[in-house]
Amino acid sequence: MQLITGISELVVNDRADFGALGVVENAAVLIDEGRVLWSGPSAQTDSAVQDHLGDARSDSSVTATLDDDDIENGTLTSARGGVELETIDVGGKAVIPGFVDSHNHLIFAGDRSAEFAARMAGQKYSAGGIATTVAATRAASDEELEANLVHLLDQATRQGTTTFEIKSGYGLTLKDELRALTIINRHTEESTLIAAHVVPPEYKENAQGYVDLVIDEIIPAATGHAKWIDVFCEKGAFTEDQTRRIIEAGKAAGMKPRLHANQLTEGGALRLAAELGCVSVDHATFASDEDLAALAKSETVVTLLPSIEFSTRQPYPDARRYVEAGVRLAIATDCNPGSGFSNSVPFVIAIAVRDMHFTLEQAVWAATAGGANALQRTDVGHLGAGARADLVILDAPSYRHLAYRPGVQLVERVIRGGELVA
Ligand code: NIG
Ligand code: FE
Repeated sequence: MQLITGISELVVNDRADFGALGVVENAAVLIDEGRVLWSGPSAQTDSAVQDHLGDARSDSSVTATLDDDDIENGTLTSARGGVELETIDVGGKAVIPGFVDSHNHLIFAGDRSAEFAARMAGQKYSAGGIATTVAATRAASDEELEANLVHLLDQATRQGTTTFEIKSGYGLTLKDELRALTIINRHTEESTLIAAHVVPPEYKENAQGYVDLVIDEIIPAATGHAKWIDVFCEKGAFTEDQTRRIIEAGKAAGMKPRLHANQLTEGGALRLAAELGCVSVDHATFASDEDLAALAKSETVVTLLPSIEFSTRQPYPDARRYVEAGVRLAIATDCNPGSGFSNSVPFVIAIAVRDMHFTLEQAVWAATAGGANALQRTDVGHLGAGARADLVILDAPSYRHLAYRPGVQLVERVIRGGELVA
């Protein structure tokens, strides 16, 4: 059992209330077997410890600091001579829940920095670039793909992400999509089949044939290997009719639906997401009042992806419209080699605040509790009793510094499931 103390400001999160961080000043967190047993004001620590430890008292504990040896041991506490409680004093830092990054394309090979450079020189983003990554990914070995994935996951972990959704979508054959899912499933339970990312080059003249392949062969083969089904519903990718068929097939196979919609153009895709019962609809860069009204009436979370507007020079959606309409919001990185290659949630929080008009509180909430909602997870994205012990210790006195000090490595330590991982 571990007691984390010396927390200047603890973000607990009220999962039901958008932007409500439930901040506790001078706080402590009690952890056992990878779960939060209790979190609250330091003044209540003794009684909380007694409630949970029975006879053992906090004054019989060992005080420690977090160091790199703990990471090597892969654990916060090594058993120290029968001591039941280890107290870790973080020394006046803010602690927030680990980020829940609910939208990622981390399994790929190749580099598209030249495409980014061309965009910064005035070229427009188009879905066509996906084919470049598909060719490189198909040519890569399993080992190469997994090593690239692990590297990106490590980077993101050091930036505070403790839950990842990861999509396929750069294979676009039965074999290559299944290979991607197999590797993804070794690293997260939030695996997504997006065989309908674009129509692959070999089906260029036969998009319908590819949709049939996805429905008749890829979805059946991926059943049990993907928790989620996703489609890129957009001009240059898949039409609303094709999207509907693919999502329905995925649902029939037991996958839960999510959608890429209205990234580049307006259209009916957001309303379609609401109608199909998508758990999340992502991008939503363009959204009419009718779209927002339909989404507000649904259970669908709208996941905005600030880094995509940043690196495609698309207009930033104004979050205030979405909030006023009563839509449920999350933010995520959408890390991918084309439209936005950042796996840093702190970066995304800073843009959400500066350019999309989230309040500081809403942005932090959207990247934690919001991401959990977008994945239908109740065990992550907050630090109430029963949550998985995913804690980010900031090198800052307040969560506010995440947006206030962009580009600064403020994530000091990361604990996932009670273990020190960064
Ligand atoms: O979410 N929009 C579709 N898929 C990715 C981009 C993929 C790429 O350009 O490689 C996205 O932005
Ligand atoms: Fe995406």
